[in-house]
Amino acid sequence: MKKMVIKGTGRYLPERIVTNDDLTKFMDTSDEWIQQRTGIEERRWVSEEGNIGASDLGLEASKIALSRAGWVPEDLDLIIFGTLSPDLFFPGSGCLLQSKLGLKSTPAIDIRQQCTGFLYGMEIADAYIKSGHASRILLVGAEVHSTGLEMATRGRDVTVIFGDGAGAVCLEGVETDENVGLLAASLHAQGDYAEALMVEAPASRLNPRITHEMIDDGRVWPKMDGRNVFKLAVKRLPEVSQVVLDKAGLTLDDIDMVIPHQANLRINQFFQKSMNLPDEKIYNNIQKYGNTTAGSIPIALDEVIEKKLIPKEKGTILFAGLGAGVTWGAMIFRFM
Ligand code: ACO
Repeated sequence: MKKMVIKGTGRYLPERIVTNDDLTKFMDTSDEWIQQRTGIEERRWVSEEGNIGASDLGLEASKIALSRAGWVPEDLDLIIFGTLSPDLFFPGSGCLLQSKLGLKSTPAIDIRQQCTGFLYGMEIADAYIKSGHASRILLVGAEVHSTGLEMATRGRDVTVIFGDGAGAVCLEGVETDENVGLLAASLHAQGDYAEALMVEAPASRLNPRITHEMIDDGRVWPKMDGRNVFKLAVKRLPEVSQVVLDKAGLTLDDIDMVIPHQANLRINQFFQKSMNLPDEKIYNNIQKYGNTTAGSIPIALDEVIEKKLIPKEKGTILFAGLGAGVTWGAMIFRFM
């Protein structure tokens, strides 16, 4: 049977470092508040010059992943692009990335699952591979948040947490009887919480979609009920992680590394405590990058591989995340 294996990974973070102190120029906040509540020390933002979109960051991460896989873009059967900050309202960033890779007809799908974009993308890729519809897939998670954040005290709860960045993985279907690939997954959504974290305008349900008044009222900036999202995350991340362990018939002893979505270091510390995980079995990099949403898990994965924090053969990772939608989920992946 065909199993999905990872052939290459890549990440791209813009060079511009924005520290917590830098943010105090725009809003009433402090390095102390941000570090205490979120663990974030700095994040990357795209350069102020030039128009740089999610597909541009995705392209840089993809080039690295493709070269590590030993693939050229023409080898791809499918591109899956996860982002909540697409270059354009439409068409999707996957199409833009496809063109930037020099491709002329390779299919490209955009998915809008925010912080769980990578998890949903992995399960979609696995289904394409198992059904025989594709055998070489590029999965990208990329965000440019910085151009969509309110640079004022009104938006400070959200603005301080987000950063720009991209991660990419090359996935291939390989005929093998070995117990490798996606061993278990459990994905969920609950639209009742859609307004707990959203950007309201412009939107098709508004007529007109955008007005000067909406801009003045700040309805174009992300709004978050942070406390509620926090409570959901600390409850559901351990729950759904246990579900995938049970599904796979594994225990935490079989897991080499847990890579959670990077939304808030405190969320991940609660998660670690409820799972009883030792420090060396959970990976966090939110301190350097903030929350890069669809980019966060593949960026962390690329770092975990680069730092050789998992065995080269049969390294087993548990991914978990919760974000806007709300969507949440977990999965267990084992390398060949
Ligand atoms: N600087 C200084 N003070 C601030 C800031 C800031 N940046 N932001 C909020 N405050 C103030 C508030 O105004 C409030 O003041 P008050 O007590 O006088 O009213 C106080 O700090 C506490 O505010 P809370 O919102 O209760 O702070 P909390 O401890 O909940 O931290 C945070 C806020 C960091 C946003 C947290 O709620 C959180 O991380 N939530 C979850 C985020 C998440 O997981 N999102 C999902 C993923 S993102 C995605 O899907 C796109």
